[in-house]
Amino acid sequence: MNTHRILVTGAAGFIGSHVVEALLAQGHEVVGVDNFDPFYERSIKERNLRDARAASQRVGVPYRFHELDFCDSAALADALRGVEGVIHLGAKAGVRPSIADPGGYVRANLVGTTTVLQEAHRTGCRRVLVASSSSVYGDQPKVPFSEDDRADAPISPYAATKRSCELLGHAHHHLTGQPVGMLRFFTVYGPRQRPDLAISLFMRRIAAGQPIRLFGDGRSSRDYTYIADIVQGVLAAYENIDRFGFRVWNLGSDRPTALDDLVATIAEVVGRRPIIERAPMQPGDVERTWADLTRARAELNYNPATQLRDGVASQWVWMSEPGEA
Ligand SMILES: NC(=O)c1ccc[n+]([C@@H]2O[C@H](COP(=O)([O-])OP(=O)(O)OC[C@H]3O[C@@H](n4cnc5c(N)ncnc54)[C@H](O)[C@@H]3O)[C@@H](O)[C@H]2O)c1
Repeated sequence: MNTHRILVTGAAGFIGSHVVEALLAQGHEVVGVDNFDPFYERSIKERNLRDARAASQRVGVPYRFHELDFCDSAALADALRGVEGVIHLGAKAGVRPSIADPGGYVRANLVGTTTVLQEAHRTGCRRVLVASSSSVYGDQPKVPFSEDDRADAPISPYAATKRSCELLGHAHHHLTGQPVGMLRFFTVYGPRQRPDLAISLFMRRIAAGQPIRLFGDGRSSRDYTYIADIVQGVLAAYENIDRFGFRVWNLGSDRPTALDDLVATIAEVVGRRPIIERAPMQPGDVERTWADLTRARAELNYNPATQLRDGVASQWVWMSEPGEA
């Protein structure tokens, strides 16, 4: 594939910083955008950014970074100059905090995505990918979740904003012809994972001998997906979206793990016995996620290979490095 200049939003975040590094390694010039949303500490995002800048120097491919809010159309349009494609990963993420701040999620995720789509079109970008989420499937009992399943009963403001972004993307493609891809990520983990997410949180607490709180009876399950597999899917979607116009893809692992089994794996990797407190299921949390990957495998040659234990071990190695998490 020819190399492009690609703008990545959420570039200082967990998934964004990995995607930036992978694009640079492929020789793409990258423009990163992030506003350091205070959802978690700025210092963690600064570190992600530093690592991506070091990667740019290593491979000798330019990486420019702009600290800006993508709801600011003038600032975004400026950053978009000469850009051929956008990978929009920036968002307010997280189910539980969205219940306390639905307005903040609507602004960042709906106004933000609308602004990104509009400015990407106005400035002549050829394609846009947008991060969606497995949460759009809601609490449905039918598994695995396939892209053609209904997704009209979200159970959190976060999920509702992600599904709304997909609908906005569809309308945008219909009206402009600009290729738009929607990527439904299933619980992503690995080095740089957000500190609010279960694996990162449990590792820190188990290692420190502190209790961890498990919501529900331990049988709720997630299709945990390793970051390198997600990045492979994002790059493949970027290369292929032109062929589809508008397309939704699941990017998961097709290997759901129960909460109790996840904790046992983390405890084994960390080498300490967990102290477990049980609490009722939290509002907004779904019972299960499980990705049907038939479409992504066939159309993107997506092939998530990382076993949970190996991925958890890599995350633990990263968390154990001096100065990390
Ligand atoms: N991590 C997961 O398990 C997961 C699962 C499903 C979907 N997603 C989606 O993937 C994307 C990346 O998630 P992540 O885990 O890397 O989260 P993250 O919070 O680490 O990264 C998101 C980044 O977006 C930035 N941002 C937020 N609002 C912004 C704004 N208005 N302007 C500019 N930047 C802004 C934040 O500062 C942050 O650095 C998000 O869209 C998220 O909803 C993530």
